[in-house]
Amino acid sequence: MNITASAPGKLLLMGEHAVVYGYPSLVTAIDQRFSVTLEETGVGEVVFDVPEGMDTRFIAKAVTMMETAWRVRFKGLTFHTKNGFSHTYGFGSSAAVVVAAIAAAAFYFGKNIAPKELFDLSYKTVLAVQGKGSGFDVAAAIFGGTLYFVTAGKIITPLPTKDMPLVVGYTGVKADTVTVVNEVGEKMKAQPERMNKIFDAITKLVEEGATNIRNGDWERVGRLMDVNQEYLRDLGVSSERLEALILAAKGAGAWGAKLSGAGRGDCMIAIVPKEKRKNVEEAIVKVGGQVIHTTPHAMGVRVES
Ligand code: PMV
Repeated sequence: MNITASAPGKLLLMGEHAVVYGYPSLVTAIDQRFSVTLEETGVGEVVFDVPEGMDTRFIAKAVTMMETAWRVRFKGLTFHTKNGFSHTYGFGSSAAVVVAAIAAAAFYFGKNIAPKELFDLSYKTVLAVQGKGSGFDVAAAIFGGTLYFVTAGKIITPLPTKDMPLVVGYTGVKADTVTVVNEVGEKMKAQPERMNKIFDAITKLVEEGATNIRNGDWERVGRLMDVNQEYLRDLGVSSERLEALILAAKGAGAWGAKLSGAGRGDCMIAIVPKEKRKNVEEAIVKVGGQVIHTTPHAMGVRVES
């Protein structure tokens, strides 16, 4: 028996870092999917067959978590994982693989797992390996679409939207999320008042952003992203590469642009009028960025066979 489940990657639209400290964020699932096939081999223990360079700790931890939670034993099973996107882009491959692996295994063991249970188990797995994280990537992988998300899944609200005019530029630099999150953590310890003020201001942008995403007022969403980027600069998580791509996008007519995720690398995102898309993409490439063609608001986890 073979069971395949797939889960989407994600992009943070607004609210990164603040969301680690109990504040809200906006996240969208993207159609770069990650899939896991569970093959019943009937021999030996559990085997992980992953693409080269991929971290197996996440999927291995997911197995021990499921064994404890469901009182089952994984034996004679191989997990084959397939990358729909490079894990260097920062699209959330770890969260997506954990979610897809648990969804496939739940199907295999005949478990009717509710989305909230899937979230809790996946989030616990990611935290056990990574130590830190808000869980926004896990939520995007499970629920898909575009979400208003508060730390640890305290609130997960789908935002109905369509035709999000998003352009994604990869800096070519892999971000080290844990290091950047820890640096922000040090600042939080040293200057809690200043940091909470910044996070309060970002929260206002996120709230307004949610309303404007619902309304499809993309020009306004772009402007809000610009202001969000100013606060991210204040936090010290931007980089020269990110700034170059952001500047290029804006110079070519984007309504707004910002980094997406931890910062210092990975991707930037821009909200762009339809007629300017080509110009913006060319401008990003001109300054050394790589345009990644992806569709936001993608479908969440699904068992495919
Ligand atoms: O680097 P990414 O794409 O995993 O995003 C990290 C976003 C943070 O808010 C900095 C951390 C988190 O877990 O929310």
